[in-house]
Amino acid sequence: MRQDSHGPIGVFDSGIGGLTVLKALMARLPHERTLYLGDTARVPYGTKSGEVVTRYSLKNAEFLLERGIKLLVVACNTASAAALPALSATLPVPVLGVIGTPGTIRSGAYQRALEAGQPNVSVKARACPLFVPLAEEGWTTGDVPLLVAREYLAGFARDGVDTLVLGCTHYPLLKGVIAEVVGPHVSLVDSAEATAEAVAELLGARGLLAPESSTTPEHAYFVTDVPERFVEVGARFLGRPIPSAEQVDLRF
Ligand code: DGL
Repeated sequence: MRQDSHGPIGVFDSGIGGLTVLKALMARLPHERTLYLGDTARVPYGTKSGEVVTRYSLKNAEFLLERGIKLLVVACNTASAAALPALSATLPVPVLGVIGTPGTIRSGAYQRALEAGQPNVSVKARACPLFVPLAEEGWTTGDVPLLVAREYLAGFARDGVDTLVLGCTHYPLLKGVIAEVVGPHVSLVDSAEATAEAVAELLGARGLLAPESSTTPEHAYFVTDVPERFVEVGARFLGRPIPSAEQVDLRF
């Protein structure tokens, strides 16, 4: 399939979290149109098997592809870890993932990618599932998230970890407490920003960047369950209001 630079960028996630990736994309690429699909009927992906997550991911990708996307961003760490090879092999457009949920950590995807060919790199991973509901509740500062972050991450601080990858869409919202626990000398890698940069590079390299325009590009939102909660909580993740989201049936 020949991609057209005027086509939108397709983004999917299991639900709301991928909006942190969309936010970074909108900031980095302000002229691009986007289509976002949150599979809110089947969230969470993080606790499901790789096989099921791959099946859902292929269905999500098909939905976006039918709407003419020029590139797919898998804005879900679990789906990226489980389904990226299957998506890249099947889709006629370029596919990029994000860099955990229990499923992401269990898959060992980050450890393999980071340690491959680099004998001096040692990777420790820890799933932090309670960060997800905290971020969705907007409970990102104060004693409760700080205690949870200490419970999960104090070991990293003791082990002298120097770089921490925020391996889930929801974790950037808790950057403040995470930094407080691990200390200022630890670099935090926000996979949303890293992904937006990779998308910009890829579109540029293939001549697919949208032409600059003085009008605001269109951003459309689709969900697989009723949209109310997505619209309300999502605005916190996106950092701007979500005017509306359309409920769609993916028909498994
Ligand atoms: N979006 C998911 C991820 O980044 C977190 C929520 C879920 O488990 O579905 O892995």
